[in-house]
Amino acid sequence: MAQRVQGTEDLYGGYMRAWQRMVDVARELFGAYGFDMIETPAIEQVDTFVHGIGESTDVVRKEMFRVFSGALLPEVLERGGESHLKPRQRMAMRPEGTAGVVRAAVEHNFVPQGGAPAKLWYGEAMFRGERPQKGRLRQFHQVGLEWLGASDPAADAEVIIVLMEYFRRLGFESSQLHLTINSMGDSSCRPAYRQAVRQFILDHADEMCDDCIERAELNPLRAFDCKNDHCRAVMEAAPKVTDALCEDCRSHYEQVKRYLDEAGIAYTEDPTLVRGLDYYTRTVFEVEVEGSGVGAIGGGGRYDGLMELEGGKPTPGIGFAVGFERIYLALQAQGIDLAGEEPGCVYVACMPEQRAAAFSATLSLRNAGVRTEADYQGRSLKAQFKQANRLGARICVVLGSDEVAAGVATVRDMASHEQVQVPLDQLAAFVAERL
Ligand code: HAM
Repeated sequence: MAQRVQGTEDLYGGYMRAWQRMVDVARELFGAYGFDMIETPAIEQVDTFVHGIGESTDVVRKEMFRVFSGALLPEVLERGGESHLKPRQRMAMRPEGTAGVVRAAVEHNFVPQGGAPAKLWYGEAMFRGERPQKGRLRQFHQVGLEWLGASDPAADAEVIIVLMEYFRRLGFESSQLHLTINSMGDSSCRPAYRQAVRQFILDHADEMCDDCIERAELNPLRAFDCKNDHCRAVMEAAPKVTDALCEDCRSHYEQVKRYLDEAGIAYTEDPTLVRGLDYYTRTVFEVEVEGSGVGAIGGGGRYDGLMELEGGKPTPGIGFAVGFERIYLALQAQGIDLAGEEPGCVYVACMPEQRAAAFSATLSLRNAGVRTEADYQGRSLKAQFKQANRLGARICVVLGSDEVAAGVATVRDMASHEQVQVPLDQLAAFVAERL
């Protein structure tokens, strides 16, 4: 039997309805904040991710799915790699949405000099070659937004406010959500801080794991997220970014917090929150659900240097993304069904000799926007009623010979069993009103 790839899922039934609901709620809420939807390609040139996310991140080094056409693969295997390929021939599946959106903004000049900010949102599949486990997949789905061209700390606060409101509309209680924030500094204060953390790791090298010692050179801040408890305990004494911020970053962070306080958003400050993507500057944030055991359900931050890394003019940016599968699990654990009820339908049942009348009744109901089912297997009337029940039909339209001869249909309410006869030319309007 053919099987799906490990760490991927089929979205159907209630699971699919839950994903669509996440997209619908996003469209309504983000639309009110002035965001338009964008879809970038699922494959991009590898460089788009390497420049943006960072060469030394786990996402780029270990988790990106590379894409080679069948025609190119033998050459790559033969030459032992892809280094001889042209940049446009080196492709990867997107592991996240920000780099692609920023690449598109540069390519289409979404934020012309002196122009208004670009506000974009997306709901799409992402791909990371991680070890599959609960809430960690190789193909997962994110809803996210990116606000390009706004440097004001009010934008940071509003992005966090819209994120928390999004979670509330999906069904979370504010009291269950744990928002953590931090500032990661910028190009004027971070290099010195990075160097201080690197030195701290090297000074404690005999107490830390090999990965962290490698991180000291590659990406020292990632040592704060080491899976090894002992390393994390050692890192508690490491220099804190909030003590190393330059004046501009400090004042930006203070203002973000003031706006969040004013909006009544509860948060915890964590100077070790560093996030796994290199493009962040200043504000970063993550949200977890108390006791859900699925890790962060969403996160994001400011990335004022990313447009330049993708070849554009210096343009500030900030955004977030949330993970559908983790949100679904977290809500399910609380007994909240994101999928909602199955849509109700109408079933058109008929005597075999009235098949033509059933065909045109079905057509008129569907044209009126009514979700309509009928029998296509030549079943008896009794079997058709059973099928209507199985499908959860709220109304059954019955077309027997007497009805058709009189130009009417019997409309039966499946819950109350009440029946009325309705002229066929008024059937669609009558049923649509009752659903
Ligand atoms: P991220 O924190 O890497 O950020 O991912 C955002 C969310 O995607 C996570 O909080 C989690 O819910 C979900 N997620 C990530 N990896 C997986 C996985 N393997 N399986 C299931 N769910 C996962 C970003 O991707 C940034 N682009 C967010 C952003 C937008 N920053 C600024 N703008």
